[in-house]
Amino acid sequence: MIVCVCNAIRESDVRKATKNGASCPSSAYACLGRRAKCGQCFPFARQIIAAERATA
Ligand code: FES
Repeated sequence: MIVCVCNAIRESDVRKATKNGASCPSSAYACLGRRAKCGQCFPFARQIIAAERATA
């Protein structure tokens, strides 16, 4: 599933970035070489990051 439409970032990309140490949407996107634009995806991205960190 696409999380960030602006950057075409998928849920699996966000999970991978979280495993690599990202703790917020901005750092996760930076980890993927992208930058947040509109910010509409932040609530969803935060949920994925929180869930991933909870199971880490
Ligand atoms: S949808 Fe992610 S920055 Fe716009």
